[in-house]
Amino acid sequence: MGMRRYRKQYKWSNIIAMMKGTSKELKVCSDDFTGRLVAITGATSGIGYAAAREYASHGANLLLINRNEEKSITMCKEIQQEFQVECDYKIADFSLLSEVRNVGRELLESDLEFDVIIHNAGIYSTKKIITEDGNELVFQIDYLGSFVLNYILKEKLRAQGKARVIFVNSEGHRFAVWGIGLHDPTYEKRRHSGLGSYGVAKTAQLLSMIKFAEYFEGSGVTINAMHPGNVKTNSGSQNGRIYRWYKRNLIDRSAKDPQISATALYYLGVSKEIEGISGKFFNLTKEEEPAPPALDREVAEELWHKSIEMAGLE
Ligand SMILES: NC(=O)c1ccc[n+]([C@@H]2O[C@H](COP(=O)([O-])OP(=O)(O)OC[C@H]3O[C@@H](n4cnc5c(N)ncnc54)[C@H](OP(=O)(O)O)[C@@H]3O)[C@@H](O)[C@H]2O)c1
Repeated sequence: MGMRRYRKQYKWSNIIAMMKGTSKELKVCSDDFTGRLVAITGATSGIGYAAAREYASHGANLLLINRNEEKSITMCKEIQQEFQVECDYKIADFSLLSEVRNVGRELLESDLEFDVIIHNAGIYSTKKIITEDGNELVFQIDYLGSFVLNYILKEKLRAQGKARVIFVNSEGHRFAVWGIGLHDPTYEKRRHSGLGSYGVAKTAQLLSMIKFAEYFEGSGVTINAMHPGNVKTNSGSQNGRIYRWYKRNLIDRSAKDPQISATALYYLGVSKEIEGISGKFFNLTKEEEPAPPALDREVAEELWHKSIEMAGLE
């Protein structure tokens, strides 16, 4: 099990690709998207915010799923005034899964048709925190939140016959070299670390993509994941002083503007070149092979059933 299970399949070239993370090959789409509807989670800052503005600048209407009402009101006003598009929001704090389920069900019952859904909300935590739902916090926000929304909306999307679902994932999924450790999701027996729990959550999301892609096959709905580049955002700002120092002085020094992430998210959501492509992982706009633990179908199957349980869906 563990590292031994995946060692043979590891391609170190992918780790090098991750470290280089170049934006040289960023593809750009300038097609119009007037009147289309795009849902984005965690749109109040960083990548989600930049992506919302990018879609609005091409004429798309927006539905933002955020946890902060004040920021949402200000943001919707700003976007409506600047781009003359519709901008609405729903409130869900992903640390409370009942709020995510409620928004999911509300959207399910609405007659809204989504052209693009971007699952972006995510955090990085150096501390182990257990939510009221009983899950490790990063696993819940970065993975289970997106699982709940997709799971509740999956039939509706299939019936629409067209939509692109995109996960804002991360090259950081490669840190889960021992797999996702489903036997111990709350880190009782294994050591918790910021990188480790982040890698696990992002790997879990990639594993869920395998199952969702299977479900959507042939329906006109596609689902893909992307790494948004190393970009300067509010990510990690709730962590302690040491982490913040490290982020300011090491990570942010080479970090780019989140506009590159927004450009990539627009390309993946709109470009004809991506039409019909599903179940893939992109580094910005370049397709890449994910790490072996993120391709393990057996674990994907097990995780699917466990997620339904952990997310309180059935
Ligand atoms: N920055 C990078 O270099 C990088 C690299 C790889 C992957 N990513 C991924 O990109 C995504 C966006 O991150 P970012 O860098 O743009 O960070 P960010 O600036 O911190 O934005 C995160 C967004 O998620 C929201 N969020 C946080 N906790 C939430 C909760 N409990 N419930 C609902 N929403 C919540 C935040 O809302 P508030 O405004 O209310 O805080 C914000 O809108 C994440 O999934 C992250 O893992 C980022």
